[in-house]
Amino acid sequence: MTPDELKQRVAEAAFIYLEQQFQTNWVLGIGTGSTVNCFIDCLARSSQTFVGAVSSSVQSTDKLKAYNIDVLDINDVSAVMVYIDGADEVDPTFALIKGGGGALTREKIVASIAHRFVCIVDESKLVPRLGEFPVPVEVLPLASRAVAAQLGSLGGHPKLRSGLTDNGNCILDVSGLEIDEPEYWERIINDIPGVVTTGIFSIHRPQEIFVARADGNIDHRMGP
Ligand code: 5RP
Repeated sequence: MTPDELKQRVAEAAFIYLEQQFQTNWVLGIGTGSTVNCFIDCLARSSQTFVGAVSSSVQSTDKLKAYNIDVLDINDVSAVMVYIDGADEVDPTFALIKGGGGALTREKIVASIAHRFVCIVDESKLVPRLGEFPVPVEVLPLASRAVAAQLGSLGGHPKLRSGLTDNGNCILDVSGLEIDEPEYWERIINDIPGVVTTGIFSIHRPQEIFVARADGNIDHRMGP
């Protein structure tokens, strides 16, 4: 199967599973990326009713609105029942690297207020240890040089990504980190002055993961 077919498969499998549990008072959290786009397509075809969605990016907001799905302001929502998102890497303990699409900060905010986080990936995203995919770090533009120096002193090789995030910040993509303790790395990078968010999702990791295997079969795994 092609990578696009796998994304579609895994999004559909997660959607079918969640659709059976939908309740009319649910607010869904919607991540960002090509896999989540497939999930939004499923939502749009569904006759299930729910309150609406909180979105992690302008891209997802635009897609949801194009399907006439209500997008709510995060400040107006008391609870997000389920957050659905993809990932760039997933380790065996369900710690993630996210932010390849640049939406890491809003993604982490939605993950932090969700009762459940369901991650949808194809098996190419599964890794024994995080760090082969450069860790995206969102930083205030005025601090990009200072943060890059700090990340360098931790052994990383930061590279400034072109463009700005939806929040008007820049992203440093940091290669060379050996992330054997994701929570330690998440906290230590977050503590650098000028950092807005790191793309290591260890403190708010998913409870469930749907994985599309290369042959198209789907694994539904519960968190360790
Ligand atoms: C965006 C993300 C995405 O979840 C991640 O990049 C995976 O994207 P895709 O589903 O397109 O492979 O973190 O910031």
